[in-house]
Amino acid sequence: MAKYKLAWLPGDGIGVDVLDATQIVLKRIALDAEYIPGDIGWEFWCREGEALPQRTIDLLRNVDAAMFGAITSKPVKAAEAELVPELRGQGLVYRSPIVRMRQMFDLYICLRPCKAYPGNPLNYRDDIDLVVFRENTEDLYSGVEFNPVPAELAEVLLKLSKPFAAFREYPLDQLAISSKIVTRKGSERIIRAAFEFARQHHRRKVTVIHKANVVRATEGMFLDIAREVHQDFPEIEMDDANVDAICMWLLKNPGNYDVLVATNMFGDIISDLAAQMVGGLGFGCSGNISENLGVFEPSHGSAPKYAGQYKVNPIATILSARMMLDWLGETDKAAAIERAVAAVIQEGQIRTYDMGGSHSTLEMGEAIAAKL
Ligand code: IPM
Ligand code: MG
Repeated sequence: MAKYKLAWLPGDGIGVDVLDATQIVLKRIALDAEYIPGDIGWEFWCREGEALPQRTIDLLRNVDAAMFGAITSKPVKAAEAELVPELRGQGLVYRSPIVRMRQMFDLYICLRPCKAYPGNPLNYRDDIDLVVFRENTEDLYSGVEFNPVPAELAEVLLKLSKPFAAFREYPLDQLAISSKIVTRKGSERIIRAAFEFARQHHRRKVTVIHKANVVRATEGMFLDIAREVHQDFPEIEMDDANVDAICMWLLKNPGNYDVLVATNMFGDIISDLAAQMVGGLGFGCSGNISENLGVFEPSHGSAPKYAGQYKVNPIATILSARMMLDWLGETDKAAAIERAVAAVIQEGQIRTYDMGGSHSTLEMGEAIAAKL
């Protein structure tokens, strides 16, 4: 029996292309694993009304980790129109499978390293080595949303809100609400994970990103908890910044930052900014992690217009596979993959279109595998 059971979830769009390239690398490194393909993505929504079928959930309960590609998502009405006719009109609502996986399996850490590899023509600057810790289960992703807002809820809001709240001026049937729900437990564990990482990897500083000056209840609590947790890590510096300000400062002085931690939605936004600074979505790798399961994916979407063209850059996914190996404890193999990626970037012989070259997704995978 293989040492690891891994779910292999390409999804759709370019998810298939980038996972194919990643497979070349994992084969070469001879990881002792059984790869079990799983059904997930747009085609299952259209045919079954469920982009994350129960059988795939069951599979995820029985594996050590998963590699995930990407999935197309569409607004609710457009999604309903693409269902097979027998499923239409039943009130089925398309929900993002990755967001569901994160919540269902309590994958509370979204880990997104963004490093400027020397020789990458897309680096914004060469001194960037950021690691984003994004809370992955709550906040605006809680799914507690109303449009229209039920009358009983609207009445409570009228009763409890400040007299100057703008929405009070409008008819109640014009309200829409998406709840930002943040818990003490959710905040503490992601902040602690960021500090633990800093300690383990000899990182200098953790920057807490928030909007505590305005969003006081949730973001204010997040910042307070960060100050408490910091007490346990006296050797690591902590600073904090408003999310808007950090967007400017990250661009101005990226070298001043190290480990970043944020609630879910701000972490989502900051991690795209950080990924762009080291080459864009072709370089943004990602791990959705708990103690029991890790689901590793590029942070880019499914880019349906490039699907099947084997044109896009697989490095984000290959670096995500490297994160998976690290998480599994296969640290030598993980380091070897990172060295191979760095060498291919540095040499500059093989480049996909985003890097100004014309090599294919699979040629990039092969070039990296050849360094192993
Ligand atoms: C990400 C993506 C997802 C998110 C989408 C695809 C639901 O943007 O992984 O960053 O918002 O978390
Ligand atoms: Mg995102």
